[in-house]
Amino acid sequence: MNQNELITGYKNKIKRVLISQEEIQAAIQKAGKAIDEIYDGRPILLVSILKGAFVFMADVCRAVNVPCEIAFMCAKSYYAGTQSSGVVKITMDLDRDITDCHVVIIEDIIDTGRTLNDIVKVLKSRNPASLRVITLLDKPSRRVVDFKADLSLFTIPDLFVIGYGLDCGELYRNLPYIAEYNTDA
Ligand code: IMP
Ligand code: MG
Repeated sequence: MNQNELITGYKNKIKRVLISQEEIQAAIQKAGKAIDEIYDGRPILLVSILKGAFVFMADVCRAVNVPCEIAFMCAKSYYAGTQSSGVVKITMDLDRDITDCHVVIIEDIIDTGRTLNDIVKVLKSRNPASLRVITLLDKPSRRVVDFKADLSLFTIPDLFVIGYGLDCGELYRNLPYIAEYNTDA
């Protein structure tokens, strides 16, 4: 395959824009206001689940006005392509204690629900003052464990999506919008 074919192949996988940059930004401004109202000046700790939520985290943290610290955790559930392995592994834990903190988990997407179900259990056992989950995207039709976010910005159908932090085989995270991935191209 030559260079041109590679570039065409890469672009053909972006089927259509599902959620535009503008729609994402408007929803995040609303979420920021909702967070400010809930915590009412109390300091929070935003915990982003890497890698997918890194872009969302960067925007959410700039949309809130309460005192805010950030931390990262890495969990892997998708090992290759578009299929989940069903196994969730925490591959990088928090670098700090969360006892008595108001923790807000920032996630890119809830699909089967396994990742967050496991992460929430682990973090709750560490005695935070409170724990809430905010997700950019939610695919409720795909749930295998009963899990609901406290705030979900967009509900989407059962499609594999890329962009705004979400990948397919580690590519497309840098797209500024959410797109449907073309599994046929
Ligand atoms: P869950 O444990 O099945 O809820 O999966 C959550 C993780 O799977 C997310 O944090 C994503 O990293 C990944 N994932 C689920 N659906 C998609 C998708 O449509 N595109 C890209 N990654 C996805
Ligand atoms: Mg993720």
